[in-house]
Amino acid sequence: MEIIPDFLLHNCGQLLTIAGATEKPKTSQNMNDLGIILNGAIAVKDGIIIDVGTTRKLRKKYDRKISQVIDAEGKVVLPGFVDSHTHAVFGGDRTQEFVQRIQGNTYSEILKKGGGILNTVENTRKQKNQELTEASKKHLDTMLLHGTTTVEIKSGYGLDEKNEFKILKTIHYLQQTHSIDIVPTFLGAHVIPPQYKSNPEAYVNFVCNMLPAVKPYAIFCDVFCDDGAFDAKQSEKILKAAQSLGFKLKIHTNEFKDIGGVSLAVKLGVVSADHLDNINLRDILSIKKSCILCVLLPGVPFFLMKDTYAPARKMIDHGLPVALATDFNPGTCPCENMQMIVSLACLKSGMTPSEAINAATINGAHAVEMAHWVGSIEVGKQADIIILDIHDYNQLPYYFGVNHVQTVIKKGWLVVKDKQLIDLYPNQAFGDSFRRKDTRKKRNSSVHRRERRGRRVCDKG
Ligand code: NIG
Ligand code: FE
Repeated sequence: MEIIPDFLLHNCGQLLTIAGATEKPKTSQNMNDLGIILNGAIAVKDGIIIDVGTTRKLRKKYDRKISQVIDAEGKVVLPGFVDSHTHAVFGGDRTQEFVQRIQGNTYSEILKKGGGILNTVENTRKQKNQELTEASKKHLDTMLLHGTTTVEIKSGYGLDEKNEFKILKTIHYLQQTHSIDIVPTFLGAHVIPPQYKSNPEAYVNFVCNMLPAVKPYAIFCDVFCDDGAFDAKQSEKILKAAQSLGFKLKIHTNEFKDIGGVSLAVKLGVVSADHLDNINLRDILSIKKSCILCVLLPGVPFFLMKDTYAPARKMIDHGLPVALATDFNPGTCPCENMQMIVSLACLKSGMTPSEAINAATINGAHAVEMAHWVGSIEVGKQADIIILDIHDYNQLPYYFGVNHVQTVIKKGWLVVKDKQLIDLYPNQAFGDSFRRKDTRKKRNSSVHRRERRGRRVCDKG
């Protein structure tokens, strides 16, 4: 039977397909290759990419069969960003601490005095479910407006049973209702809460005991293994317990100090080790022998006014797979915009624009084990596509601090048009969603979404 696309996106001046790295993340050999098709086009059906090629070829093939043709007007088109590390569900903000830091107080000093993460824990505990959901939805909307179509979100501002579940259930609700694909992570081991200060081991046990009940709500388990948080032994205990229950693992490490987090990451075979601002050559070489993704978060040293950026250049040159993410959170990077992170990676860590774009798309997808679904524009993947209002991809990091994203298509749905969010549900007011009505019901069904998500993760084994 002949397959007729729902729509054709054509006249993409530079179509960055990011193709060829679904099985394995990009490394030095192909990190500068964006798989560019000049004057490219994409055919989409039921939210899935069914054909990719030049405009000439695809128009010839489909012109007489389809009614919906979208003109990218010669602009840059690429897959939606995959933000593989965020803490997007939290209460309050830390504007006052920001001012204190500018006046000379360090992040660690503020944390040791009961501020920092603990300040946000207090604010998050105070919030009602609905307030938390509304605040988080606003952050996700901003992400979507800036071109992020898949995001990982960690818990970790609850630090007790009731509030960690409040966060995890908020993430779960957003999974069902928001256009962005969300990958949930349990970060009960974010810091030791004050009441456990004299007996941190009791908190480590408490986190381990929570794991079975958390399992239905999180795919990954993460630990903040660093100075002032959890030491390597405590981290190992939690991560091993999580691994035995079938969680995939992540680790925050070497953000402030090297306390052995990388050796632990290699030993346990985590999916990603994140931050790595203070990493030595020995650890770089040990990661090389593993298949760990290095998720770099240059927004953090930038916002903390530090000069210790992860040595991305050295890591890539040694063959390590590098991804970029925001670390969006109220304390160390209140920035939802992946474009800004791409600029910082170029300017502060010596990545080329092509390396940074690969790191923010397909390698991010690998960091959340979603590479079979998202991160590139290839046949069989979700139609998560963004159009930037520029004509040369190098201008993405060049014109920094602004939003280049003009259009966002998520699973074949038009969700951002002319830099404005389109609300998909109330009365379907817009006339030009790209997909047919009958598929909309499927998208609305939470069961369908859950099944698809489950399959995604299992598919990769
Ligand atoms: O990734 N390092 C641990 N967690 C966050 C900071 C969270 C906060 O300060 O609220 C981070 O930087
Ligand atoms: Fe983080």
